Amino acid sequence: MQNFENFLLNHLPVSKSIHPAYQDALQKMLCAGGKRFRPALLLGVVNSYNSLMLDGARHAAYAIELLHTYSLIHDDLPAMDNSPLRRGKPTLHVEFDEVTAILVGDALNTYSFEVLSNAPFSDYTRVQLIRELASNGGLNGMVLGQAIDCYFENKPLSIEDVKILHTNKTAKLIAASLKMGAIIVGKEELAEQLYAFGIKLGLLFQIQDDILDVTQSTEEAGKLTNNDEAKNSFVTLLGLDEALKQANDLAAELTIELNGFDESLKNELSPLLTKYINRHKN
Ligand code: IPE
Ligand code: IPE
Ligand code: MG
Ligand code: MG
Ligand code: MG
Repeated sequence: MQNFENFLLNHLPVSKSIHPAYQDALQKMLCAGGKRFRPALLLGVVNSYNSLMLDGARHAAYAIELLHTYSLIHDDLPAMDNSPLRRGKPTLHVEFDEVTAILVGDALNTYSFEVLSNAPFSDYTRVQLIRELASNGGLNGMVLGQAIDCYFENKPLSIEDVKILHTNKTAKLIAASLKMGAIIVGKEELAEQLYAFGIKLGLLFQIQDDILDVTQSTEEAGKLTNNDEAKNSFVTLLGLDEALKQANDLAAELTIELNGFDESLKNELSPLLTKYINRHKN
């Protein structure tokens, strides 16, 4: 991922303005790190089928990370999860102010599509990628999930509805990351197969995030933990033991599916996926 970090640092919008904090705020959260899980998924798929396309694929990986980072900045706002820490750093509304955090989120959101529109692919591929990111990250994807998440605070949902919530707020963007990798290498059938796998992987990722909220310290997580009491999380609804059991079941299912992938895809994605599929067990 070192190449990706270098790419990211070299492709930040840096135009100066009379605003004293805008430029700094725009870069702060993006450069604070994070797991870069979604870019790693996209780049892993591309690398396993056509490593010559990796340079171009970094544009698409970057676009996903831009949109994801915007979602985190807005997720932490006082009106949403009201969180003071993200990626080990003060959140933007704490370090700057709420207006700046809202607008930086807006800017990263739109910039992600600008980056995709300039990616070095055919027009056909570019439009497919833009559509995937928009439809999974937008009104019937991440944004819908966030709306449900916040609306139903202190109003318990059924576990089936929480799966729908988690699928929208988290799983669709993770599934889109895998699918966009397949689109770049021109594999349409694989794109659908990886999307379905990614939805399950993303559901597990959010169940694990719910678990880590109660098992990790704020220092370990780099974000405020024990912050989900009012939320419809797997742990608040089922308790820690049952949430862990459901995570284990999903992890086992995903491991079997991973072993059924093409040899090259399996070899490429196994180290990354094994680490994330099992991260609630540490
Ligand atoms: C956090 O995502 C929000 C969820 C969808 C659970 P990540 O856990 O990938 O956050 P970063 O990118 O590493 O900061
Ligand atoms: C957020 O879920 C998912 C997003 C779309 C950003 P959480 O609210 O559980 O994420 P964290 O725990 O703050 O990272
Ligand atoms: Mg949230
Ligand atoms: Mg949150
Ligand atoms: Mg969380």
